[in-house]
Formats: sequence, C-alpha cells, structure tokens
Amino acid sequence: MLKLIDSICDKIEQNTDYVVPVNDLRRIIRFIRDYADQRHHAKEEKILFAVMVQAGYSQDEEPLGTFLAEHTLGRVLIGALSDAVDRIDQDDPEAREDLLVNAQGFSALLIKHICCEDLHLFTETEEKLSKIQIDEISAKFKEWDEQPEEVANNLKSLQMIDELEALFNTNE
Ligand SMILES: [Fe+2]
Repeated sequence: MLKLIDSICDKIEQNTDYVVPVNDLRRIIRFIRDYADQRHHAKEEKILFAVMVQAGYSQDEEPLGTFLAEHTLGRVLIGALSDAVDRIDQDDPEAREDLLVNAQGFSALLIKHICCEDLHLFTETEEKLSKIQIDEISAKFKEWDEQPEEVANNLKSLQMIDELEALFNTNE
C-alpha cells in the first residue's frame, strides 16, 4: 500500500500533466482508514496498549505516548490527504502540493512507526509483561481477528488493495 502511494506521488512529481487518479486515491484512503487504522491500530489501542496501561505503562510517556501520537498524526495526515483529493477533484491548483506533502508524510510516518513497533514494542512487551498478560493479549487478538465481520471486512480491504496494486504495477 505504501509502494502504491509512493508510486502515485512520483508520477505527480515527475509530470505536471499527470491526471491524479482521485477515485483510486479515495480507495487507498478507505483501505488505510478501514484496515490500517480501524483494524490494526484500533486493535493495538484497545487490546495491547490497554493491557500495558494496566501493567503500569503511562499513555503519556515512552513508548506508548509516541505510538499513540503517531496513530493520531497518521489520522490527521489522512484527513488532510482526503481533503486534498477532494480539492483536486474540484480543480484547485494548490491541492497537488498538499496531496504530496500529506501522502509522503504519511508514508514516511508509517514506515518509521512499523519499524519502531517491530524493533521495540513487541520485544518490550515480551520482556516486561507477565505470561498471563501476554496470553490475555493473544487471546483477545485472536477473538478480534476471528469475528466473522472482521474476517469479511479484512478480505474485502485486502482484495481492494490487491486490485489497486495490480493496476499500478506495484504488486511485485
Ligand atoms: Fe501502531
């Protein structure tokens, strides 16, 4: 999905005549909101972070404070990106620049966020939480992932992004 965003941004930057694919961008934004945010980030916030808070972590300090702030910043950037896409659709000449700033900002933020989670968050929880707490998180993740509505929505989101990646040739 990030390759897709980067590829569209490259085309916009390299060719001022490139017609911005507004409908495809709206589908990418829907994927980010439905899949990356409402599923992945919400699952972290409601299950993993909630157990960490019970274990004594503060939401205002490292590492939770940073992860939560990044989730919030991601939502702000996607809101601004969505606004820029709407303005491109209305032929606002300044909207292309706004699109680039917010899309590239989101892409860079998410790469950093995923990298920090992989490097620090999961090792941190494994080291500092008890086996009971880790088992509780795993059980709640499994329960969340197995809800029929969740399975269906995930499938729909992933199919949509596969179609877009095939369309833009970023699926290798
Ligand atoms: Fe996250």
